[in-house]
Amino acid sequence: MENKHLVSITDFSKEEIFRILDLAEGFEKNPNQNLLDNKVIATLFFEPSTRTRLSFESAISRLGGKYIGFTDAGSSSVKKGESLKDTIMTVANYSDMIIMRNPIEGSARWASEVSNVPIVNAGDGANQHPTQTLLDLYSIRKTQGTLDNLNICFVGDLKYGRTVHSLLQAMAMFNTTYNFVSPDELKIPNEYKLYLDKKDLKYYEHKELDEVLKHADIVYMTRIQRERFSDPIEYERTKNSYVLKNNMLENTKENMKVLHPLPRVNEIHTNVDENEKAYYFTQALNGVYTRQAIITHILGLK
Ligand code: CP
Repeated sequence: MENKHLVSITDFSKEEIFRILDLAEGFEKNPNQNLLDNKVIATLFFEPSTRTRLSFESAISRLGGKYIGFTDAGSSSVKKGESLKDTIMTVANYSDMIIMRNPIEGSARWASEVSNVPIVNAGDGANQHPTQTLLDLYSIRKTQGTLDNLNICFVGDLKYGRTVHSLLQAMAMFNTTYNFVSPDELKIPNEYKLYLDKKDLKYYEHKELDEVLKHADIVYMTRIQRERFSDPIEYERTKNSYVLKNNMLENTKENMKVLHPLPRVNEIHTNVDENEKAYYFTQALNGVYTRQAIITHILGLK
């Protein structure tokens, strides 16, 4: 059977996305199931991570599987000059699936072309983060009761934010209205605007946050990512562009939820954390159930 990879969210049909979300609901009700007996899954993280790596490893553990891997390329033979192709071909011999995060855009697609086990993209540079998108969709459906006809406001680093790029593509299946709030330097790239144009979807770009909040069903905050800037002065100029505070949520929709892929720096004030509209820590928890669903779906176990 041909390997099923998850490199871009567009690799999954709408039906498959719903299948994953339904499976995740089952795992939320019953997270400990021995479905990965005798399976070994590799987690190769060439970039730092807390949530993605640990929620995958938690998901594997709760399914009775084993994991191997590295959290720093510096402790692997990449440090000796080994290519990504050789690393993937080697690790594919040791495992049933490879979950990989890498700073180079397109690296996950390349890995999928040389691997004889499924590749799951856990983030490739500023390009895609499809497993984050699936947990975001799970969180949106769970809190809003639907994915259809929502107003979603993306805030912050829309240029380099891979979670934004994946999620906006997925939400394009559901007649979403988009508000993009960013400084000029970090606007949503043209290729994504063209993507929405082709689907005849409405989107609006803004520099100020306050006015658009009241229309939103979902406010998706993002961090200004220092590690993606080639010019440190540009980072300094933009790093404090938006700080969401508790009082700014007063006139927002009753069921509006604030999401953030995390980690946060200062773009959501900690005084928002206790607000019932703050959903980002539960969103991170949903990552375990969603990743259980992704693994078992791709391995054909569910
Ligand atoms: N959301 C996310 O990708 O978080 P980590 O960088 O901690 O994995």
